[in-house]
Amino acid sequence: MKTPVFVQLHHDSAEHIRQELIQGLTANAQPGGATVSPKFLYDALGSRLFEAITELPEYYPTRTEAAIFKAHAQAMARSVPPAATLIDLGAGNCGKAAALFGVLAPRRYVAIDISVDFLRGTLDVLQRQHPAMDLVGIGLDFSQALDLPPEAGEPGSGPRLLFYPGSSIGNFTPAQALVFLRQVRAACGPVAGSGLLIGVDLVKDAAELEAAYDDALGVTAAFNRNLIYNLNRLVGTDMRLADWAHLALFNRLESRIEMHLVAQRDLSVQWPGGQRAFSRGERIHTENSYKWTVAGFSQLLREAGFAEPQVWTDALTADAGRFAVMWAGA
Ligand SMILES: C[S@@+](CC[C@H](N)C(=O)[O-])C[C@H]1O[C@@H](n2cnc3c(N)ncnc32)[C@H](O)[C@@H]1O
Repeated sequence: MKTPVFVQLHHDSAEHIRQELIQGLTANAQPGGATVSPKFLYDALGSRLFEAITELPEYYPTRTEAAIFKAHAQAMARSVPPAATLIDLGAGNCGKAAALFGVLAPRRYVAIDISVDFLRGTLDVLQRQHPAMDLVGIGLDFSQALDLPPEAGEPGSGPRLLFYPGSSIGNFTPAQALVFLRQVRAACGPVAGSGLLIGVDLVKDAAELEAAYDDALGVTAAFNRNLIYNLNRLVGTDMRLADWAHLALFNRLESRIEMHLVAQRDLSVQWPGGQRAFSRGERIHTENSYKWTVAGFSQLLREAGFAEPQVWTDALTADAGRFAVMWAGA
C-alpha cells in the first residue's frame, strides 16, 4: 500500500494570525463592525461540525449537489480529462472527491485544506480504501495565494482537474472570487483538457436560505459559536460562549447569507495588550455565503479566463435550479 505524501505550506506565524484576528475584531469601518474570516471557523472541531451540517435536513446544498453529480455523472465523465491530477480545494473530509473517483478516474488526488490535522486523518483513511492511488495532502491557506508545490505534480506532466465543490466560492466577495478564479485558472497549467469543476449555490427564497444556515438542531449555531473557542485560543481573548448568539440572515442587496455572532449584553472583550467594548446587539461578522445566478457565475468564469462553462443543475432549465455544478475548461 502507498502512503500519502503530506506537505505543509501554511506558514503563517501564530503572531501573524493573532494580528490578523485583532485587526478584524477592532475594525469599526465596515458595516456590522467587527469581522473575522470564515477560515478561522475550521479547526478540527469546526471541520467535524461542518460535516454534521451537511447531514441536516435544512442544509440542501450538499444533498442537491450530490444528486446533480449522480444524475449527470456520464456527461461529466465525457467533459473532464481522463487520468488527470484531481486537485481538491478545501477538501474537508475528502468525501465528495472520493465519491467521484469512479467517474473522474484521476491518476493522482491532491487534497488541499487549511484544517491540517483534520486532513491528515482523512487521507490516512482514504489511502486504506485506495491503496494504489497517489494521494497528496497540502496544508495551505489558499486565500493568500494558490501556489502548488512540486508534490502536486509538475504542471506540464498531465491534465489537471481543479475541484471546488460545496459552493465554498461563496465565501469570497465577487471581486475576491474573480482574483481567486484567475489563480485557479493559472493553477490548471498548460496541458490541454485541464479545467475547473465547481459547485455554486444559486439565489433562492430567503426563508429556505436562512433555514439552511440556522437549523432547528442548532448545529450551525454551534459551528459559528465554536469561533469563540478559536479566538480565545489564537488571540488570548476572554470571550464567554453564553455572551454570544448565532445570527444568519439573507442580505438580498448583496445576494449573500451572512453569519454573525451577536453580543447578548454590553461587554468588553479583553486580550493581552488590548480590548474592545461591544454593546448589546452589536455583531461580529463571521461568514458570507454569496448566492449566484447561472448567468452571473458563467460571466465571472469567462472574466477569469475560462471557456464558456457546461452547466448542470437540479432543474430542467438552469435558471430554475437551486444549485449548479459547472465544468469550465481552462
Ligand atoms: C464549506 S467546507 C467544504 C468542504 C468540502 N469541500 C465540501 O464541499 O463538503 C470548506 C472547506 O475549506 C477549507 N478552507 C476554508 N478556508 C480555507 C482557506 N483559506 N484555505 C484552505 N482551505 C480552506 C475548510 O477547512 C473546509 O474544509
